[in-house]
Amino acid sequence: MALNARAKALVAEGVDVVNFTIGEPDFDTPDNIKQAAHLAIQSGFTKYQPAAGLPELRRAVARKLAADNGLDYSPDEVLISNGAKQALYMTMLVLLQQGDEVVVPAPYWVSYIHQARFCGARVALVDATGTLDLKPTPELLKAAITERSRALVLNSPCNPTGVVLSRDELRALLEAALEKDLWIISDEIYEKLVYDEAEHVSSASLGPQVRERVVTINGLSKTYAMTGWRIGYAAGPPEVIQAAGRLQSHMTSGADSIAQRAAVEALEGPQESVEEMREAFDERRHLLVEGLNELPGVSCLMPRGAFYAFPDCRGLLGRSYGSRRVENSLELCEALLDQAQVAAVPGSAFGAEGFVRFHYAKSDADIKKALERLGNFAAAGQD
Ligand SMILES: Cc1ncc(COP(=O)(O)O)c(C=O)c1O
Repeated sequence: MALNARAKALVAEGVDVVNFTIGEPDFDTPDNIKQAAHLAIQSGFTKYQPAAGLPELRRAVARKLAADNGLDYSPDEVLISNGAKQALYMTMLVLLQQGDEVVVPAPYWVSYIHQARFCGARVALVDATGTLDLKPTPELLKAAITERSRALVLNSPCNPTGVVLSRDELRALLEAALEKDLWIISDEIYEKLVYDEAEHVSSASLGPQVRERVVTINGLSKTYAMTGWRIGYAAGPPEVIQAAGRLQSHMTSGADSIAQRAAVEALEGPQESVEEMREAFDERRHLLVEGLNELPGVSCLMPRGAFYAFPDCRGLLGRSYGSRRVENSLELCEALLDQAQVAAVPGSAFGAEGFVRFHYAKSDADIKKALERLGNFAAAGQD
């Protein structure tokens, strides 16, 4: 956030910064969705609605989960929230007590850590930063679980790594977690952004015993380019969803009525734009990752999902760039911003020192410009 603020300040001063900090699609929300929102406003759909979500949206989500994910949830087992972020937070507030532990694979999306702490919980990391493919393994997971562990957060496709867990990998992790009776919070917000042979598998689809312990988190931000509309959802066992709904009713009285009408259209209307955006991301993924791998000192796995590239930049550390000595990923990102006008997020923010997160939700022209600047920056490094 700090680097994003600095990048924005530079842009305000007229500096041409290529900003890779905030991960959101650069596409506009499809027109049919916007029109549904217009219609909602014009028809006066502007009043309080049920706190757990519009009944028609809860039904639309239940239908989507059945059709896309092979999950059988009734609308009562679905909570609509202000973005997946709030759905996650409501879920954690329901499942966690003071002193409980949440098990989180690293590299992780940074909000899991803060949300868990807001709940008074501790975080136990499954450190996958040293594995070749940045994937958590059942062995690492078992080693992280303690007597106090209560929930495991899974995020496939993953922000920041782009890792997509296969059915077998997911099953092995779930088995290890269920052996210890953990709840599973399965954040599947990037499910539609998978590439090559990768397939998204929903945790809760792996059998009835698993389903009983899983809360599935998802939302419309990434799939439908709707980050500003703030619609996400949780689906899970009724006692969890009902408790989360009661909490939400006192916190926010539920999500925005107009955005919820638009979300029904997003889920039930034409879906072509989802595939069009995915294909565009796929092309940019190659452009960015292949370009990053040509940089001296940088090595990047090909992500199979989401829209992030997470190169290992340790080869750029321990060097000087201009007057700056760069020893860690934060200093590297600061130097990149000041000297190459490229804003990216240090891996330390995701529990992975030495890495840097870029995203490819950017135009080809921006990606090419950034790669050229990165090339000049890397070449200028001195021991
Ligand atoms: C892994 C992950 N989960 C959840 C979210 C939150 O999405 P929303 O906009 O629905 O709150 C994000 C957004 O960046 C994300 O990257």
